[in-house]
Amino acid sequence: MKPTVAPYPTARFRRLRKSAGIRAMVRENTLTTDDFIWPVFLIEGKDDETAIPSMPGVTRKTIDRVVNSAREAFSLGIPAMCLFPYTSMEHRTEDCAMAWSRDNLTNQAIRAIKDAVPEMVIMTDIALDPYNINGHDGYVENGEILNDETVDALVKMALAQAEAGADLLGPSDMMDGRIGAMRSALESEGYQNVGILSYTAKYASGFYGPFRDAVGASSALKGDKKTYQMDAGNSDEALRLVERDLMEGADMVMIKPGMPYLDICRRVKDTFGVPTFAYQVSGEYAMIQAAVANGWLDGEKVMLESLLAFKRAGCDGILTYFAPEAARILNG
Ligand code: PBG
Repeated sequence: MKPTVAPYPTARFRRLRKSAGIRAMVRENTLTTDDFIWPVFLIEGKDDETAIPSMPGVTRKTIDRVVNSAREAFSLGIPAMCLFPYTSMEHRTEDCAMAWSRDNLTNQAIRAIKDAVPEMVIMTDIALDPYNINGHDGYVENGEILNDETVDALVKMALAQAEAGADLLGPSDMMDGRIGAMRSALESEGYQNVGILSYTAKYASGFYGPFRDAVGASSALKGDKKTYQMDAGNSDEALRLVERDLMEGADMVMIKPGMPYLDICRRVKDTFGVPTFAYQVSGEYAMIQAAVANGWLDGEKVMLESLLAFKRAGCDGILTYFAPEAARILNG
């Protein structure tokens, strides 16, 4: 690119910062409500919600309440929601059969939301951890996470979600071969138009702690997820994973966590130019909320600034627990 900077005082950058109007005219990236996917937590029961202490302001909701949230989110201009179940202990088993039950909490919620707010885009999470007795995303045998057996289970889970009416499936398990297996099952079972938003570059991160509290997996989890989630030191590997997932039939890709991995977002977008999403995860949310609660940060400012950073890094959208709050502010 040709240099375009004249020497001072010919060039004075402050000219284009002098008023809100001029700043708005030359702003390179903006945040809109269309950028949001809102992750929500489900619990069994009626007309109830429970607090998640490590995620102030976020609750687990019964399906009727989530349907109300979907109406509200839709009226705020939020196009999509992503569903995560808190599974009761008796439904967590070694074979994880609840994961592909037609009437599990997620699949019931998909039907209920689609019934009430058909325009809402419903994304799901595909991994065994909410149903697994040991908190892992895959089957465990002698301390090892089994790949291919897990993929078979995930395909069943994907088909059950597609049948319930999900628009975008979100495999978050990081097994090899899952995208291809899901795509071919969706094709052959008549779900050609169900999309896959793959958790492609998902790192083994300390920032997932509050989420694991929210879905009740923290106490169950034995060991860590380092043999299947990515190593925090890697960047080239993320590009190879994106290429692999696209070849296998992913429609959209995701980088997770978000803020500590904006360099990966930028590389992915620049290299592939595909729909690129980031997940501002539970720990990022908790970190901001904790500082705000202490009066150390201005919540509104840092929330919007953190979300705009994803757009600047090349993302097309963001999964964020701040979605409704941010949308309210953006709507004025
Ligand atoms: C489960 C899953 C996790 C998150 C989304 N799906 C946790 C994990 O991998 O342990 C984390 C989301 C968050 O922290 O907000 N496969």
